[in-house]
Amino acid sequence: MPLTNSLKITPLTTHIGGLVEGVDLSQPQPDERVADIRAALLDRKVLFFEDQNITPRQHIDFAARFGALHTHPLYPSIPDIPEMIVLDNHKDNPTDNDAWHTDVTFIETPPLGSILHAQQLPPVGGDTLWSSMTEAYKALSPTMQSFLSGLQGVHDFTRSFPQDRLVAQNAGRDKYEEARAKHPPVLHPVIRTHPETGEPCLFVNYGYTTRIKGMRGAESKALLDFLFAHIQKPEFIVRWRWSPKSLAFWDNRCTQHYAVNDYMPHRRVMHRATILGDKPFFRAAA
Ligand code: SIN
Repeated sequence: MPLTNSLKITPLTTHIGGLVEGVDLSQPQPDERVADIRAALLDRKVLFFEDQNITPRQHIDFAARFGALHTHPLYPSIPDIPEMIVLDNHKDNPTDNDAWHTDVTFIETPPLGSILHAQQLPPVGGDTLWSSMTEAYKALSPTMQSFLSGLQGVHDFTRSFPQDRLVAQNAGRDKYEEARAKHPPVLHPVIRTHPETGEPCLFVNYGYTTRIKGMRGAESKALLDFLFAHIQKPEFIVRWRWSPKSLAFWDNRCTQHYAVNDYMPHRRVMHRATILGDKPFFRAAA
């Protein structure tokens, strides 16, 4: 098993996913360890840690070592910890994350990453898949890469959160209207340069990207439909089977994910902390 700095990491596929062993996240992590985890995240894009017996406060404290935390405008949270989203799905509240998406791209500074911790799992099922947007970009032809590099996508809060969706209804009308008013559609480059690795990444997602600026409706739809299908290639993907108290930490700038909805009528409860990132940009390779 290769060692990345002080960490023992087993790659789970060629391009994405690494199982980290020997780290107890209930303990304060020294700065060097946090730097190593950050380096491993850049390398593997999603890190998995098993058997992490941590409290919501310890989860939040760990996430905060990587940046300021986002408070979601709609999802319920832990009492007194507004930054800790609770995703509690069962037959009366089916998941809304069974669609490929990158978290919270409806804001100007979409998250750097998210950290998800399994609280209660169904007897079987409820896996999560992540796809590498670095590999998705690399697999495109140079002609397509160059065409996409000049474009901007519109990312719209209401695409994933229309008024009639359960998560919007559960939040209540006033909270929903306030959230919608605070989140007008934003523009992001279709190809973003990763701010730490410098690698180009495809940055449109089914969850929030509604159209390409400057294109006619049919052109925009055809291009987005192609890209939304392209990112689902198994070669770009790692699939994680959750075990109790396991935890996933993903780089949200260069991945998309999909929560498999195959476990109803059982219950699946997850806690998510979301780390804010910076404004996406595109810089042509020198
Ligand atoms: C999410 O989409 O952030 C949650 C994914 C999951 O519940 O597996």
